[in-house]
Amino acid sequence: MANTCVIGLQWGDEGKGKIIDILAKDYDIIARYQGGGNAGHTLIIGDEKFIFHLIPSGILHKDKKCVIGNGIVFDPKLFLEEIEGLANKNINVAGNLFVSDRAHVVFPYHKKLDLLQEKQKGNSMIGTTGRGIGPCYTDKISREGIRIGELMDLEHFKEKLKKNVEEKNRVFVNLYKDEPDSWEDIYEAYCAYADKVAPFVSDTVDLMARAINDNKKILFEGAQGALLDVDFGTYPFTTSSNSAAGGVSSGIGVSPKQIHNIIGITKAYTTRVGSGPFPTEVDGEQGEHIRKKGGEFGSTTGRPRRCGWFDAVAIQHSVRISGVDSLIVTKLDVLDDQETISICTGYKKNSKLYSTFPADIDVLNNCEPVYKEVPGWCEDISNVRDVKNLPENAIKYIRTIEEIVGVKVEKISVGPERSQIISI
Ligand code: GDP
Ligand code: IMO
Ligand code: MG
Repeated sequence: MANTCVIGLQWGDEGKGKIIDILAKDYDIIARYQGGGNAGHTLIIGDEKFIFHLIPSGILHKDKKCVIGNGIVFDPKLFLEEIEGLANKNINVAGNLFVSDRAHVVFPYHKKLDLLQEKQKGNSMIGTTGRGIGPCYTDKISREGIRIGELMDLEHFKEKLKKNVEEKNRVFVNLYKDEPDSWEDIYEAYCAYADKVAPFVSDTVDLMARAINDNKKILFEGAQGALLDVDFGTYPFTTSSNSAAGGVSSGIGVSPKQIHNIIGITKAYTTRVGSGPFPTEVDGEQGEHIRKKGGEFGSTTGRPRRCGWFDAVAIQHSVRISGVDSLIVTKLDVLDDQETISICTGYKKNSKLYSTFPADIDVLNNCEPVYKEVPGWCEDISNVRDVKNLPENAIKYIRTIEEIVGVKVEKISVGPERSQIISI
């Protein structure tokens, strides 16, 4: 089987974690390549619930290697908490988990800055996860960041940290009228983290190159979704990394030629957490009903997710920018009790019809979605495992999505558990 990339096609939380866990058995390496602690990937295995922020969702497969690539912004505290959480469930990751020495480290001042910047934005806040993502990527791009490899040389780290904290303190004190950070406190905490993280740190570029040379099969795990991509999403209401498939190569250090298959994950409807345009958002009782039935509350922050109808215009955009080969539709079961289901096929603004996803968020904010209405199936599908047993209208809904988006659906997910998946 070819190396495969799994990405979200919406604004995140499409069910990537569940799908990665299911697919992982057919691969040797599962690699994360962008994002950081903002991700929350949920796996439900029997009575156990796992939520991974940094650790790849293949980690429950004992015989697989999991890699956290250079494109990740790495919060060592969060990482160690995740490892501890796994250890408490008797899952030992030593020898299976590798962290790139080139990944950038998230510090407390990144998180503080994230929150202060949001506060200052007031009504135009992005609604970030507060995990320091934007400020850490900013430091990376402005070439002031500290990489994990640098944490392994404590004298060098001390000097660089001191300088960075002094610079950030000027911003905290002068611009935000806030308290300065103590570089000594951060240094002490991060020396302890460095010690514990050290056994996992490695040259993952070399690791990946050797794996490719040995014909190992790689599963690339995307975080967020294409509509949160910093270039192609609803900018500035995006995250700070390339969450579409373009991020794989730069975020893990393999050639684009090594990505052979791209699977796009989409919910059967749409959700978004945080601010920003959402043309098909459904307010009121109906939106609330989907939120409750779908358990649409953030895996990272617990915030209620905004809910709405399937947006084929947005999905077509996501499919195009990543060259998606096939779709997996998740949470079809959540629509079980809808009598009529809407699919957005265009946006209308000032009598102009948009059939492609515009860069201008003013259009997205103020357009009227054009809907195609399809009949629901009004029966419980969560126990269906064979496509032949799916109600006719459920199949029709999937076929309509395929037709409009122009990509085949290969699997349908009908519940959070591993077993709740249908191949078609
Ligand atoms: P991710 O960030 O893309 O991995 O998605 P999240 O884990 O943040 O959110 C997806 C949520 O939906 C989680 O609570 C999953 O357990 C749950 N889930 C995944 N697939 C399905 C499905 O097909 N049906 C239902 N009802 N829940 C699902
Ligand atoms: P997974 O991998 C859903 C959203 C935040 C906010 C915006 C910017 O679980 O699908 P950031 O903290 O990245 O600066 O926030 O992006 N966001 C997500 N929404 N799922 C995610 O990850 C997200 N990661 C970030 O809510 O709107
Ligand atoms: Mg999530």
